[in-house]
Amino acid sequence: MPKTKFPPLAAGNWKMNGTLASLKETEKLMRMLDGKSPACDVMICPPFTLLFPMGEQLGDSIIAMGGEDCHWEPCGAHTGDIAAEMIAETGASACIVGHSERRADHGETDEIVSKKAAAAHRAGLTAIVCIGETIEEREAGRTLDVISTQLKGSVPDGSNAANTIIAYEPVWAIGTGHTPTTEQVAEVHAHIRKELAGIVGEEEAQGMRILYGGSVKPGNAAQLMAVENVNGALVGGASLKAEDFFGIIEAAYL
Ligand code: PGA
Repeated sequence: MPKTKFPPLAAGNWKMNGTLASLKETEKLMRMLDGKSPACDVMICPPFTLLFPMGEQLGDSIIAMGGEDCHWEPCGAHTGDIAAEMIAETGASACIVGHSERRADHGETDEIVSKKAAAAHRAGLTAIVCIGETIEEREAGRTLDVISTQLKGSVPDGSNAANTIIAYEPVWAIGTGHTPTTEQVAEVHAHIRKELAGIVGEEEAQGMRILYGGSVKPGNAAQLMAVENVNGALVGGASLKAEDFFGIIEAAYL
């Protein structure tokens, strides 16, 4: 099993959920993790409006923070968009790019995702680059081809194990309660590791974290996180409640 350069990562993606009242969940999570030493890094990616208050709240706790998306330009006439530099200023250390919901809702192509990942790097953020096949693509036997294309198109020059994390999220597993079998996860993650070698070089590919995402819950986390080449989880729904997110960390990494 390749030993990545960094500990696994349990990252919560709050999506378009959360108001100031939701900071009680991060407060609770901090309390639950107090005095514990999980064998993983922990991160929450809240909506933009919560980045500053959550950054202040988290302070120097073990919980890191990330954005959910960024624009590729550092500033300019892009109404409604947020630059990676703005996200970095909140105390965030990472940014998700290319989530399938953004690819679907906003027509984001691999080329756009690559530019966004490069912007995250420019701002000193770790880019969490999301890829994953649709159910039609899987049923047509095209999963590995789709993954190869997305990886080649979405991972920019200059990516390495320190500034980039890959998140494999089968679109059909997101928010559905369906998860791939451990064999299916193992197959895709091994393929990602192999393809990465051709993109970032063998050494960086071995060191790079590859997260699994899609209906990760306390009840399936241990099994999914034990799969070869799975170096953590990107968690949507189950990251919104401290008990559930802690349950995932506890099951897999405590
Ligand atoms: P889910 O979402 O855990 O709610 O399936 C995962 C994601 O979209 O990152």
